[in-house]
Amino acid sequence: MSTVQGANVVVTGAGGGIGAALARRFTAEGARVAVNDIDPGRTKAVADEIGALAVPGDASAIIEEAREALGGTVDIYCANAGLASPGDAFADEDVWASAWDVNVMAHVRAVRTLLPDWLERGSGRFVSTVSAAGLLTMIGAAPYSVTKHGAVAFAEWLSLTYRHRGLKVHAVCPQGVRTDMLTAAGSAGELVLAPSAIEPEDVADALFEGIEADRFLILPHPEVAGYYQGRAGDPDRWLATMNHIQRKWEDTAR
Ligand SMILES: NC(=O)c1ccc[n+]([C@@H]2O[C@H](COP(=O)([O-])OP(=O)(O)OC[C@H]3O[C@@H](n4cnc5c(N)ncnc54)[C@H](O)[C@@H]3O)[C@@H](O)[C@H]2O)c1
Repeated sequence: MSTVQGANVVVTGAGGGIGAALARRFTAEGARVAVNDIDPGRTKAVADEIGALAVPGDASAIIEEAREALGGTVDIYCANAGLASPGDAFADEDVWASAWDVNVMAHVRAVRTLLPDWLERGSGRFVSTVSAAGLLTMIGAAPYSVTKHGAVAFAEWLSLTYRHRGLKVHAVCPQGVRTDMLTAAGSAGELVLAPSAIEPEDVADALFEGIEADRFLILPHPEVAGYYQGRAGDPDRWLATMNHIQRKWEDTAR
């Protein structure tokens, strides 16, 4: 029997892309799923397709409603909604604020709502769709890179603080995945992400392998482990390599 059979699951940002693939996979594995997206039409379309509950709205605002729709308990919460938030230090304050709100604070708010019950029951699972940008960085996307680092930090903090009390945490950190977000990433996405891009279903496969193996860090692109080690082991060399990619991107944009 699947680990998630009969579990109550919330997936945010599940109106398409990775979230929809996660919602489909959880449903196929016998879980009861609440599909959330800020776009009501996309929420309903995915929920209807897989026979799940539809809870449209901002990910931060629907946590209680999703729990009620699932009968009062959430066993697994997938904080998947995210904003691509391109730009540099001069990006609008609004871009920085919305990146922080969706990519980090939505996770914090979900935990505030769900953690007391998880600790009382001695079990709960928090899945954070972060990005390899949260371990490395994304060319041309300062707000995205900074907030995804924040999301990794929050997931790590959560895991190390509550693992002895039954909480399981997974940080899913893919590079390119063929979704609307990759298309919107423009020339930087084309250069850095597209060549090794995978399908949303591959991310769902990696998450389920990670759940079975009880692993915190889930790398749908296994090569990211080497890049992450390279960054930690020799930061200057890693920065020089990344700067080389930056200059290549600047050349393509000319
Ligand atoms: N596509 C990639 O290359 C890639 C790589 C690494 C990580 N990710 C991450 O995967 C997650 C899913 O992205 P995706 O690639 O499937 O993109 P996507 O654009 O297909 O899906 C993101 C969904 O989130 C929804 N959304 C945005 N703000 C929301 C909010 N406040 N509340 C609820 N829903 C909201 C959007 O409407 C959209 O349907 C994101 O966190 C993203 O950062 C994507």
